[in-house]
Amino acid sequence: MEMLISPSLLAADFSRLDRETAAIQAAGADMLHLDVMDGHFVPNISFGMPVIASLRKCSSLFFDVHIMISQPQRYLEDLAKAGADLITFHLEAEGNPGETIDAIHRLGLKAGISLRPGTPAETVFPWLEQADLALVMTVEPGFGGQKFRGEMMPKVAAIRREADRMDRKDLVVQVDGGVARDTIGLCAQAGANCFVAGSAIFGKEDYAAEVSLLRQLARQAAGE
Ligand code: DX5
Ligand code: ZN
Repeated sequence: MEMLISPSLLAADFSRLDRETAAIQAAGADMLHLDVMDGHFVPNISFGMPVIASLRKCSSLFFDVHIMISQPQRYLEDLAKAGADLITFHLEAEGNPGETIDAIHRLGLKAGISLRPGTPAETVFPWLEQADLALVMTVEPGFGGQKFRGEMMPKVAAIRREADRMDRKDLVVQVDGGVARDTIGLCAQAGANCFVAGSAIFGKEDYAAEVSLLRQLARQAAGE
């Protein structure tokens, strides 16, 4: 399975977003994770469409947009216009998840569903066939730099098992929160193949070295 690294821009220097984005692309990242927060679904505010649209003009990276917002359906079209390639919304937000996935697909984008730590794996099963990606949050969404929650690994494994059972080998299982050198292997062993890392990458001097090391640790742990 391909192991994908998605650095989270939330940990970047916000006064130099163009340079940070270019550096992440040059570092060989598979995509860029963009965390949109509304101060309502989560108790924090990050950035929104204007920032994504500006970065779209100067980057050809795949934009992995994680929306931690209420009423996600209201903003799908604007996010598509801004340049999102994948939109991952929260299962706990308003609306029928199947309809939200359909709406994202109609815009020509990939669709992901995210689960807060307290949301059981089984709640996402009915939507796995339609979704391109399932995101298991390994911290409570809202802030970067939190401690990794290892107790989410059985959830990752349960989702991967269900995807295999459904013959959805192509389902991307993503983890987000506290993913770093010492935790990425656990995630890969459990069945994740896409790894969001904020502070673990932007906190380092050499982004390229860190992206390569994380990818290598994930491959090793998955036995590849
Ligand atoms: C948290 C965000 C994450 C965050 C991860 O709500 O969804 O993407 O940037 O940050 P780290 O990798 O520092 O835990
Ligand atoms: Zn995120």
